[in-house]
Amino acid sequence: MTSEPIPFLDLLTPHRELEAELLQVVQQAFRRAAFIGGPMLEAFERDFAAFCSARYCVGVSSGTDALRFALLAAGIGNGDSVVTVPNTFIATTEAITQAGALPEFVDIGEQTYTMDVDKLREYLDNMCWLDSTTGSVISHRTGKRVAAIIPVHLYGQMADMDPILALAEKYNLAVIEDACQAHGAEYFSKRQNRWCTAGSMGRAAAFSFYPGKNLGACGEAGAVTTNDEEMARRMRMLRDHGQAKKYYHEIEGYNGRLDAIQAGILRIKLERLAEWNEKRRTCAQRYQEMLGSAEGIVLPYEGSSAKAVYHLYVVRVQNRDDLQRHLAAAGIGTGIHYPIPLHLQSAYRTLAYERGDFPITERTAAEILSLPMFPGLTPSQQGRVAEQVLEFVSLAPARAA
Ligand SMILES: Cc1ncc(COP(=O)(O)O)c(C=O)c1O
Repeated sequence: MTSEPIPFLDLLTPHRELEAELLQVVQQAFRRAAFIGGPMLEAFERDFAAFCSARYCVGVSSGTDALRFALLAAGIGNGDSVVTVPNTFIATTEAITQAGALPEFVDIGEQTYTMDVDKLREYLDNMCWLDSTTGSVISHRTGKRVAAIIPVHLYGQMADMDPILALAEKYNLAVIEDACQAHGAEYFSKRQNRWCTAGSMGRAAAFSFYPGKNLGACGEAGAVTTNDEEMARRMRMLRDHGQAKKYYHEIEGYNGRLDAIQAGILRIKLERLAEWNEKRRTCAQRYQEMLGSAEGIVLPYEGSSAKAVYHLYVVRVQNRDDLQRHLAAAGIGTGIHYPIPLHLQSAYRTLAYERGDFPITERTAAEILSLPMFPGLTPSQQGRVAEQVLEFVSLAPARAA
């Protein structure tokens, strides 16, 4: 058995395999001197919208911009609160703050690590009041109008969208999906009696194409999908200095466009995305077979209404840091997503949350570990990862979860 290191993520192989095709995209852009907008961008937007079963796609410069533009286009800003989860990457809340609103949190579910719908209901029913003059719900905590919910489809699994959308309808809130880790993930909607793709259910959805994502650019990139024509129009203006026509600025916007070269690169990779996602699902199944019967380790949970695309394969153990060190000593790369919940980050001291406010998030943050996961991960590499994990948990049954 080889003792080559096993990376947490292999970005080298797919780029080596696709190099000739990707270089052609760059060459084409050079030959046409077409770097901003144009046919490469439009073709990618068309294809990605179709992939997500959404009517529109607006390419932007990052997932963070995608979230910010979606919020702004939905009319969210000063004086508003936006509800999300504390177990996410900080970009989710940065976008809320940068849109002028205040983030508020509800805890996650113990099994899925996505928004706990009962906690969301409890928050809206008991921690807000209805302003009958405006019809808005007002947060007791912030005194602000609750304007939107951002469910985060974390680790590649969609949040429980049916009840989230039902609550949003009841309280007249916009739902912006944070689909930055969930390109191609699906959810069985009982309300619609069909499988729905991430990016097709909310008022809009944000995607990141940061290089390590399931669909990654060769640099920074993002996109928003929506079925709402007016939202799409506003987001196109927001990404381009507020102009629909050159030098006619309807609003003040941003420089948040998606480069033509990145769009061209993403279009080539998009052709492989379904296959790559399927390979990730196969790897997840293999981990399940190898580790499923072990005591002291909790594997990812995929409910019957979810088809996850395993952006990350996150397990839970006690003494997580020891396991991470144990795997590092065996040459196995891992990650922690995320070690400090957002409500306990220094950046959000002013939100005045305290330790204990979101117990599930806090407990899982101390126990989660992301194992190697990428489409080209081989059965023998997984065998070595599993062997080391099993060795660790069997040596320390008393300290395992
Ligand atoms: C859940 C989540 N939201 C938002 C983002 C932000 O995307 P980007 O890094 O492209 O701005 C990311 C990317 O890391 C993410 O994982």
